[in-house]
Amino acid sequence: MVRLEDVTLRYRPDAAAALAGLTCAFPAGGFTWLMGPSGAGKSSLLKLLHLAVRPSAGRLDVLGTAVHAARRQDLPGLRRRIGVVFQDFRLLPHLDVLENVALPLRIAGRGEKQLLADATEMLRWVGLGDLMRARPEALSGGEQQRVALARAVVARPALLLADEPTSNLDEQQARRVVALLREMHRLGSTVIIATHNEALTQEHPAATLRLAGGRLVSHG
Ligand SMILES: Nc1ncnc2c1ncn2[C@@H]1O[C@H](COP(=O)(O)OP(=O)(O)OP(=O)(O)O)[C@@H](O)[C@H]1O
Ligand SMILES: [Mg+2]
Repeated sequence: MVRLEDVTLRYRPDAAAALAGLTCAFPAGGFTWLMGPSGAGKSSLLKLLHLAVRPSAGRLDVLGTAVHAARRQDLPGLRRRIGVVFQDFRLLPHLDVLENVALPLRIAGRGEKQLLADATEMLRWVGLGDLMRARPEALSGGEQQRVALARAVVARPALLLADEPTSNLDEQQARRVVALLREMHRLGSTVIIATHNEALTQEHPAATLRLAGGRLVSHG
């Protein structure tokens, strides 16, 4: 359901390749850890998968769409089926926490009452029930990270991507976040998580894709 074939990504034509000749597949409904040292290309791979950048060369298929060949107008519909927890959160500063989390449901056209109930439930789940009316800037890094997680999962995306979603959290919160990601997997989402946290991956053994220098090291 997500497949890369000999994919290369250069941020500028004259720059070194951030990803070089990458071939790999993520089966539908799978759970994969994405690992590798800083600069290995983990965030770059996730950017390709949520359509923020296009491959410089090679073939990329995401949820049945050939992204390398797709027309620009075909991508927004596909993007709405993908949930992302960004490494830098990217919450909307002019919206409160509840409205940040409700946004994907608004875009999906859900009714007002249901979307507020769903967003509220999700925020309670990540332990932020008391901060729903706060602005993102008034939250700690770890609280913002949990808002970003709630926003990514609230619309039950087919593909869920998380870029180091536990980097700002204490151990207990990190466990809770991983429990939520595993629950999304259990409900049918394909889940790919970039992390440096070896302890967490050992606690939850799953398929692991390792990158180094923009190349595939192992996938098993
Ligand atoms: N927007 C960008 N413009 C130019 N080069 C970039 C850009 N983003 C990343 N790179 C380069 O691409 C390579 C891979 O970076 P990437 O962010 O994918 O690594 P990473 O594995 O996510 O690292 P980290 O663990 O530090 O988050 C690096 O050499 C980086 O400098
Ligand atoms: Mg990164």
